[in-house]
Amino acid sequence: MSALLTVEDLRVRFPTRTGVIEAVRGVSFTLGRERLGIVGESGSGKSQTGRAIMGLTPPHAEVSARTLAFGGIDLLSASPKVRRDLRGKRIAMILQDPKYSLNPVMSIGRQIVETLKQHEKVGRAEARERALDMLAAVQIRDPARVFDLYPHEVSGGMGQRAMIAMMLIAGPELLIADEPTSALDVTVQLEVLSILDKLVAERGMGLIFISHDLRLVSSFCDRVLVMYAGKIVEEIAASDLMNAKHPYTRGLMNCMPVIGADRHPLPVLDRKPEWAL
Ligand SMILES: Nc1ncnc2c1ncn2[C@@H]1O[C@H](COP(=O)(O)OP(=O)(O)OP(=O)(O)O)[C@@H](O)[C@H]1O
Ligand SMILES: [Mg+2]
Repeated sequence: MSALLTVEDLRVRFPTRTGVIEAVRGVSFTLGRERLGIVGESGSGKSQTGRAIMGLTPPHAEVSARTLAFGGIDLLSASPKVRRDLRGKRIAMILQDPKYSLNPVMSIGRQIVETLKQHEKVGRAEARERALDMLAAVQIRDPARVFDLYPHEVSGGMGQRAMIAMMLIAGPELLIADEPTSALDVTVQLEVLSILDKLVAERGMGLIFISHDLRLVSSFCDRVLVMYAGKIVEEIAASDLMNAKHPYTRGLMNCMPVIGADRHPLPVLDRKPEWAL
């Protein structure tokens, strides 16, 4: 299988007055048309890894890699125009909070139409038709009504689905979903995930699913990268998680509450300075 994405020794640094913050410290992995999870605690570098691939790192950050290639395109030497064209068209990213991604003063339908028009030459009627189809694909029951609503007029779950629709309208080959459901309650979370799962399977996309929730990631992905302090400490097939070797991964697993098991107190996650070396 030829890789969709190749990441070798990715580093993201933020120079600050008091020193350099190394957010990502040598991350390497390849991705095909599969579902890859990235887990790790807050600040471990998950989002910055996703943003570096997407080309959405803050301007003052320094990004370097031995290889950062998408479908044969060297992302680090690509021109800003090439990267802009890739974003949204071939690589899309769902951010944690739809409020930051949906424009509050534009109706949901128009935002989806505008996104499509940025990437394809389509007529008005066709664009509207495809936006409505996409809204239906993310299981919005009354697409024609929702098309005309503004983001503040819909629930969090529907806003998140509208965002997924917007991200998928141009048919990306790679989708990076950064905590796509953590702002939602559990039942809506599962709904949104099953929609994502179906779309990924139907369209044969590659998916990078970022979450701090190891249980969620392992039930949803084929393979899991565990990050700690800017590095991958373990890469493991989701089905093989029970045999995780790294003490941090094992710690994450032990901290997952088990329904029916009466454990008081819940174990506290152990961290050792040498894992961050
Ligand atoms: N703009 C920035 N300037 C300086 N440091 C930053 C900036 N953005 C992120 N960082 C630092 O980079 C590190 C990694 O951040 P990142 O957002 O990738 O973590 P994360 O794993 O996504 O965490 P979370 O689970 O909280 O989303 C953190 O230590 C963070 O403080
Ligand atoms: Mg993050």
